[in-house]
Amino acid sequence: MCNDSNNELRNERRMFLTVTSCALFAVGGAGWITPYIRSWNPSVRAKAAGAPITIDLASIPEGALLVEEWRGRPIYIVKRTKEMIASTLDLNNELLNPDSEDDQQPEYARNNHRSIKPEILVIEGVCTHLGCTPKFRNKKNTNGFTGFFCPCHGSKFDFSGRVYKGVPAPTNLKVPPHYFADANTLVVGIDEERQA
Ligand code: FES
Repeated sequence: MCNDSNNELRNERRMFLTVTSCALFAVGGAGWITPYIRSWNPSVRAKAAGAPITIDLASIPEGALLVEEWRGRPIYIVKRTKEMIASTLDLNNELLNPDSEDDQQPEYARNNHRSIKPEILVIEGVCTHLGCTPKFRNKKNTNGFTGFFCPCHGSKFDFSGRVYKGVPAPTNLKVPPHYFADANTLVVGIDEERQA
């Protein structure tokens, strides 16, 4: 049983390193954004074991992406602008599952913005096709696309992590359990009703 547990931790750590490398490559090559990447520090062991993480939202500029880690997975936190929020309301006909009818999010995130607060998006940065790390595009490129783009096979997601029709990814990006401890403190890894 102990070996199984150790293997699971090693596998989760390996997965995180793989997707993190992909994220760094993708972001560095693209140049569309400067995401805030922090906290990949010695507490990784505790995080890999599943401990919730706490994030200070005050440090995130409006419109920017912060990348954190939980259970060996990159967690994307976006402080959405009014324009980003509005853009998600016009896309329903282009999305595969605009109403989030699957189980890719907790019930409290099954809404138009897939979030507790419309201005704060919390999703796993893991493509639901084969697990690559989608890029964050907060400016229109030459094709006019904004949202999340997975360079591996071309999947696209909107600013709520909802997948577009006609791409390889079969579902929306996953929303991890989370809650707000106060106005500027986000806790990822546990639902509010479950925290002691
Ligand atoms: Fe993202 Fe294939 S892994 S499109």
